Amino acid sequence: MEKLGWKIKENEFLKSDVEQNGSRYLIGNGYMGYRGTLEEFGKEQLVALNMAGLFDRNGDKWRESVNAPNPFFVKAFANDTELNVLTANIDSHEQVLDISYGLHSRNTVFCVNDTKVSIKAERFLSMANENLAVIKYSVSADKDTEIKINTYLDSDVWSINGDHFEVTEQTKQDDISVLKLMTLENKIPLSLYEYINQDVENPIKIKAGETFAFVKVSGVYWGEGILNSLDTFKQVNKDYDALLKEHKSKWNEIWYNSDIEVEGDNEAQFALRYSIYHLNSIVPRNTYKCGIPARGLSGQVYKGASFWDTEMFMMPFFSFTDASLCKNLVKYRINTLAGAMRKAKEFDFDGAFYAWESQETGDDACSLFNVTDIFTKRPMRTHFKDSQIHISADVVYGLWQYCTVSGDYSLLEEGGLDMMYQCLFFFYDYAVYKPLKNRYELHSVVGPDEYHERVNNNAFTNKMVKYAVDALVSALDYAKNNMPQLYEEFLLKNDISWVDEFAQKLYIPQPNENEVIEQFDGYFKLEDIGLPEIRSRELIPHEYWGGGNGLATTTRIIKQADVVMMLNIFRSEYSKSVKKANWEFYEPYTEHGSSLSACAYGIVATEIGMADWAYKYFMKTATVDLTGDTKQYVGDLYIGGTHPAANGGSWNTAVFGFGGVSYTNEVLDITPNLPESWKSMKFKLLWKDVRLDIAINGDDVKITADKPTDNIKVTVNKKEYKF
Ligand code: BGC
Repeated sequence: MEKLGWKIKENEFLKSDVEQNGSRYLIGNGYMGYRGTLEEFGKEQLVALNMAGLFDRNGDKWRESVNAPNPFFVKAFANDTELNVLTANIDSHEQVLDISYGLHSRNTVFCVNDTKVSIKAERFLSMANENLAVIKYSVSADKDTEIKINTYLDSDVWSINGDHFEVTEQTKQDDISVLKLMTLENKIPLSLYEYINQDVENPIKIKAGETFAFVKVSGVYWGEGILNSLDTFKQVNKDYDALLKEHKSKWNEIWYNSDIEVEGDNEAQFALRYSIYHLNSIVPRNTYKCGIPARGLSGQVYKGASFWDTEMFMMPFFSFTDASLCKNLVKYRINTLAGAMRKAKEFDFDGAFYAWESQETGDDACSLFNVTDIFTKRPMRTHFKDSQIHISADVVYGLWQYCTVSGDYSLLEEGGLDMMYQCLFFFYDYAVYKPLKNRYELHSVVGPDEYHERVNNNAFTNKMVKYAVDALVSALDYAKNNMPQLYEEFLLKNDISWVDEFAQKLYIPQPNENEVIEQFDGYFKLEDIGLPEIRSRELIPHEYWGGGNGLATTTRIIKQADVVMMLNIFRSEYSKSVKKANWEFYEPYTEHGSSLSACAYGIVATEIGMADWAYKYFMKTATVDLTGDTKQYVGDLYIGGTHPAANGGSWNTAVFGFGGVSYTNEVLDITPNLPESWKSMKFKLLWKDVRLDIAINGDDVKITADKPTDNIKVTVNKKEYKF
């Protein structure tokens, strides 16, 4: 793979890269994502038009997101030879993704006997009209050739856990092919339309040097969106250049607000933009009915579900670049509160226990047996679903961060206050009061490090719950002063007498004499081994290190940043020496077995003067979807796809780490820490509805604002900045 400005490019076709390139060359517009496969591919090559927010369950298999029929399927034949990179003779091949506006293209020259036949295709999922999938496809040859084109909406799709729809209608209305489907479980309708601007039904004769080109515009609509969709689709101006122009102009707007320019380091610049490209491609833009899946829109891995990844890794990017997108993500959680309350009841608790793996209703898609034992092939009892309780605090964190950064508290009136209360009521019910210590503790939990299950007082979890309960106290205070009606109605429904006491008496593990915070009670007593040792104990590659008897469970080896994640989130509350002590203590034990891990180590490293490590971890998180250097299997479970949390982590490391951006409710501070190779860094931040243009040149910081700045306070190196 080559990087050229805003493009990535393959210069040859390698069968072994098909799966990886499917993720690398992904395009998306928030409504749907399309894997970077080639037009002639089918389900064996993992082609997928992955739909955001549309889920289905086949029998008793895992419920997962739906891959819709493939609108980009095209098979071309030259003198009856199929032009397929998997079977034909290839003279040259290029695959390109232009991340400046999500344009995928390929250019392949085949040798068909003594004729060179070339295929060019260019496609995009429109950012301007989220229902449209557009492709321009052309064939040319150096000798007179007969071409046949086979293109249709291919409903024979890749699906991990069984088929998800039945075809209910396949017709042609005037010049539009109509394909109607229905999902199996909830009978949700899906309609696809296809318009082709040329006759491709009959063989086409081209002369040497001539090109035959056609444009195909497909419309994809589901659920309520199918109402009048055929009429809507008919009215679309289907001119390729016009469609591309409006698509590009939307992407230009997106980049205007979210780009980061780095001078002096092309590798980092590209990786950062590539991360931002992914975040912008997968975020739902016009709805709050779905979240961002852990593998983006690159397929059905992780069941298309949203995890804590959204709040803790991706939301900072959206809250600081496009608050309306962030607001939708928070509203998605508010909208799924009922599911979270059902889950709490299922485990005999009050309040709201959010889904570890959340789909459209908020019911948990995570199973109690989420990993298959690689030795026995039996389902293994895991505790992600019932014990990873920090998710409810993460959800509160997302809401309260949105309010803090945007200065917009209106969500409290739109169910946000109820959501916060229910999450905290769950924690209050879950907590154990220890009378002799006169404190509340949280027992039998799973922290971010999933290799140690059902532990007591995981520092990260306790601290997140403390943040959440403090946020509830602040939100109640805000409502009391600014939303009296909401406050009164709230008090009529809810008892808040326990809140202050819970906030004061919740136990937060503290640094020991060496300034290290124990990850959970008893962690220090575990076997002290390093990563080479644990690897040498593996009996089978990919064996799962967690679960009841995984290799890591009796040792200090951890899957991902846990205490260090806490120090990253609560950067301003811990001293430099505590951060350093913990970073150095935990780093050798950390597998980074999750792509969520590197950014936390990167950000904290910027704060403790470990510039080389900071850069190394930044590059690790920012290049994860370029290098493909991540786990593809856990046990025998395929977990490939894109890594949006790491993409968010790369923005976070750049802005919070190198840019040195930190904030409280009152003030935004910029204390830069640029890596040596970065001459300058330029980016925009939306702070309390004022868009700041920030240019960092070494230690020099210049900020301009798009509005009067009377209502905001900004400091540079902790000194007030005069605009
Ligand atoms: C990580 C979780 C993460 C999930 C989805 C797991 O491997 O341990 O922290 O939420 O993947 O990205």
